Amino acid sequence: MKILAIETSCDETAIAIIEVTGSLKEPVIHVLSNIISSQIKLHAKFGGVVPNLARREHEKNLVPILMRALKESKFLQPESRSSEKESSHKSLVMIQNSILNREFKLLKQFEKKIISLSPPDIDAIAVTFGPGLSPTLWVGVNFARALSYLWKKPLIPINHMEGHIVSALLRTATKKQRQHGMFQVACFKFPALALLVSGGHTELVVIKKMGSYRIIGETLDDAAGEAFDKVARILGLGYPGGPEIAVEAAKNHQSETDPPLARNAKLKIKLPRPMLHTQDYNFSFSGLKTAVLYLVRDLEKKYPIIKFRSSVAKEFQDAVVDVLVAKTLRVAKEYRVKTVLLGGGVAANKELRKVLQKQLKKELPRVSYMLPDVALTGDNALMIAVAAALTGKKKAWTEVHADANVRLDKN
Ligand code: KG4
Ligand code: ZN
Repeated sequence: MKILAIETSCDETAIAIIEVTGSLKEPVIHVLSNIISSQIKLHAKFGGVVPNLARREHEKNLVPILMRALKESKFLQPESRSSEKESSHKSLVMIQNSILNREFKLLKQFEKKIISLSPPDIDAIAVTFGPGLSPTLWVGVNFARALSYLWKKPLIPINHMEGHIVSALLRTATKKQRQHGMFQVACFKFPALALLVSGGHTELVVIKKMGSYRIIGETLDDAAGEAFDKVARILGLGYPGGPEIAVEAAKNHQSETDPPLARNAKLKIKLPRPMLHTQDYNFSFSGLKTAVLYLVRDLEKKYPIIKFRSSVAKEFQDAVVDVLVAKTLRVAKEYRVKTVLLGGGVAANKELRKVLQKQLKKELPRVSYMLPDVALTGDNALMIAVAAALTGKKKAWTEVHADANVRLDKN
């Protein structure tokens, strides 16, 4: 089976093409193409993603990225046969009037580059339909709908968070597999628990079987990644804040020659661990962000920021990790799960990866721990393609719509 996948839920325009071989139980994923075009630089000056700017970028990027992906996968056959030409020109009218009628820039490129192509040798088109930013999701979904209609291929709508779950399952077992862009999908025991931490979501998801999800805990306000981004801004660090805070926090361990003030015990840098002891499995990070704001305001009255920034970054990171790990372990125990998975952009955080592993080993040594390759933690279309291969349901293009607030348990 060959799948082309499109991901535009936030600020990454991504397209991947995979071929799946092997058995259903032990599928092998061959990555024919996996392209991610990040808009980070564009949004950095605004300190966060601007939805309409992101939408415009996706409109600009999708056709060139698709052309590149088809070329890399050797599916690019520029000239369609004359019988195909006739039918594709009929399709164009429908696409102009009813599918890409609001994506004017994308439509122009579609007419110029895509309409004349022979349909590629793929079996389905997967697309992220939510959750995410409504304007950016719609661009990807409408693009996928137009391709589905033009090429007469079914669509597979995929929940973005399921993609993040799947990214924890991809393994390259041998050197040859790595060189050839091949992955195996790791087997794991159910019930499993996924800690999903991204810019928009923080969720604890119990997985009874692949495709059957129950959210049992989530953030009541800011997502973990969002908190990293906001605290980075308070500390005068760049966007996205997660990696910046991680780097700053690591300095706290290293600056032996010029110890930060906190190390001299002149300052007490202690932040709260919100909801650590509540009986539910939910999170709240907005108060933690406000606590950082007040702490920094106080410290700034007496010291230059350079003197305490790394200490605050480290204490903030520790606070987030402490809460995430403690609640994950509690659910793991209470639901007697056999596997814990980590996913989402914040899963790139080394401290979180390490502490979760250490605590699981200590308190639940029989539970297996699956975490994604760091390169697959951020948004990408490969995870969407693999999710489509594992659990996807083929639909007609008319049945697929973007849903910015869709939940994993309402798939
Ligand atoms: O999953 P993702 O790429 O996009 C969404 O679906 O939201 O997650 C992006 C989030 C951002 O908030 C970013 O700051 C955070 O992931 N992030 C990190 C790290 N790398 C990215 N947070 C903490 N530590 C990191 N190393
Ligand atoms: Zn994401």
